[in-house]
Amino acid sequence: MSPSGPAAGSGAGAGRIVFDDVSKAFPGRAVSTAALRGVSIDVAPGTIFGVIGYSGAGKSTLIRMVNGLEQPTTGRVVVDGVDIGALRGAALRAAQKHTGMIFQQFNILATVRVRDNVALPLRLDGVGKAEARARADEVLDFVGLSAKADSFPGELSGGQKQRVGIARALARNPRILLADEATSALDPTTTAQIIDLLRRVNREYGTTILVVTHEMDVIKDLAHQVAVMAAGEVVEQGSVLDTFLRPRTGVARDFVSTVVPQAVPDRVVAHLGGEGLWRLLLLDDEVTQPLVSDLITDIGVQVNMLHADMTEIQEHTVGQMIVKVTGAPERIAAARRFLAERVVHLEELVA
Ligand SMILES: Nc1ncnc2c1ncn2[C@@H]1O[C@H](COP(=O)(O)OP(=O)(O)OP(=O)(O)O)[C@@H](O)[C@H]1O
Ligand SMILES: [Mg+2]
Repeated sequence: MSPSGPAAGSGAGAGRIVFDDVSKAFPGRAVSTAALRGVSIDVAPGTIFGVIGYSGAGKSTLIRMVNGLEQPTTGRVVVDGVDIGALRGAALRAAQKHTGMIFQQFNILATVRVRDNVALPLRLDGVGKAEARARADEVLDFVGLSAKADSFPGELSGGQKQRVGIARALARNPRILLADEATSALDPTTTAQIIDLLRRVNREYGTTILVVTHEMDVIKDLAHQVAVMAAGEVVEQGSVLDTFLRPRTGVARDFVSTVVPQAVPDRVVAHLGGEGLWRLLLLDDEVTQPLVSDLITDIGVQVNMLHADMTEIQEHTVGQMIVKVTGAPERIAAARRFLAERVVHLEELVA
């Protein structure tokens, strides 16, 4: 599609989201639930920011604050300089136009043809029928669904329904796209296609994308930055690559291990544990070094390779090796020094 220019009022660098010490309590009959506690996150314009956490961590509550569907109990959610929680009525509705949202269950109207589903936000804005439909056709072309414009949602697959959801969210040319578990109802292949599409939205339109998910694969393939949430708090945040290489909390380690499994059973660790049982992480060019043969010939140790794998994270290659190095104690120490200079991370495995 030929983009019809940025939405009115947006400009270079628009789409910044700041959560400033945000807390949310839902009052209950007996006790109130603290859904969010002291959350501070700064989402830079034009980036893809992922929030990961288990069920009940507060992800949906957090993302719904960005378009004013929830208000913080304390703290502020500031979108492009505007405190969203303080807006009401027409001012809130005007601000909401800059933010599109997609959902796990797609939330498209079953009795309305695809084109009119996509045109709906514009029609609600008072845009004429012909103009709204023309814009809908543009975005449907962008998401690769032109052929389905006259179909009803019931005639579409899950992945196609989510494309309709994305097209509808993009119809107003928003600065920000919010995705709440947008791929959780889809199979892995369809998930990959939707992730590719979201990356293209970010690349071609510079749209800031805030995505919440419980799937670390989605974070790995989609996000630039990540915040890990547990029980309403952000327990760590940083670049996606850094979080994969050096998760600092147990929750983050558990999520990372769903993508990069530490594939040696505890029984084997117990059997081989002690000096020289190491997990090595290698980054980019490090993965092509002849590490094992150098250890054997130059350092004079024996190497038992227990596991090796490789994955792509944010256009970087990350290799993992689990080795048991044996030899005289001073040779093992020399091997450790040798590796420390050649791998990005060395971790001792203990039973
Ligand atoms: N409208 C509400 N009223 C009362 N409690 C709520 C409400 N919405 C959310 N909560 C509570 O706030 C906490 C966080 O819920 P939230 O839906 O944000 O979690 P989530 O991380 O999105 O979980 P999931 O992965 O299951 O979608 C939960 O304890 C939930 O029960
Ligand atoms: Mg949720």
